Amino acid sequence: MRDETPPWDHGVVLVCTHQRDPDAAKPSCGREAGLKLRQWLKQAARAEDGPAARCRVLATGCLDVCPHDGVTVGFEPGHRAVVVDPEADREALLALTRAHFEGLTATAAAGKREKARRALGRLLK
Ligand code: FES
Repeated sequence: MRDETPPWDHGVVLVCTHQRDPDAAKPSCGREAGLKLRQWLKQAARAEDGPAARCRVLATGCLDVCPHDGVTVGFEPGHRAVVVDPEADREALLALTRAHFEGLTATAAAGKREKARRALGRLLK
């Protein structure tokens, strides 16, 4: 094992593509709907100017939400999940992706500023 530095430094968006049999006890998001949504969001996010352009949009297995209507999309870091209509909610999902990763960037910047302020405070004592 070895450490690597991946280029997706702003996190990942996980789009469920799990497909259960029609007679399964639990519903599933669906392979085709998930893959189409993932491809659309990947291209739309890459066209952004901000931090959303540097996230990774991944197809994934079941996220244990398993809605009757829609596709589950998770955000990490952030431990957040939403269920979306894979067609009607596309623009709203892009807006959420943008806001999510911009928020993380702002939080990280504030944390770095606070850390620098504390370090400076220790030096000046
Ligand atoms: S099948 Fe998509 S969250 Fe479980």
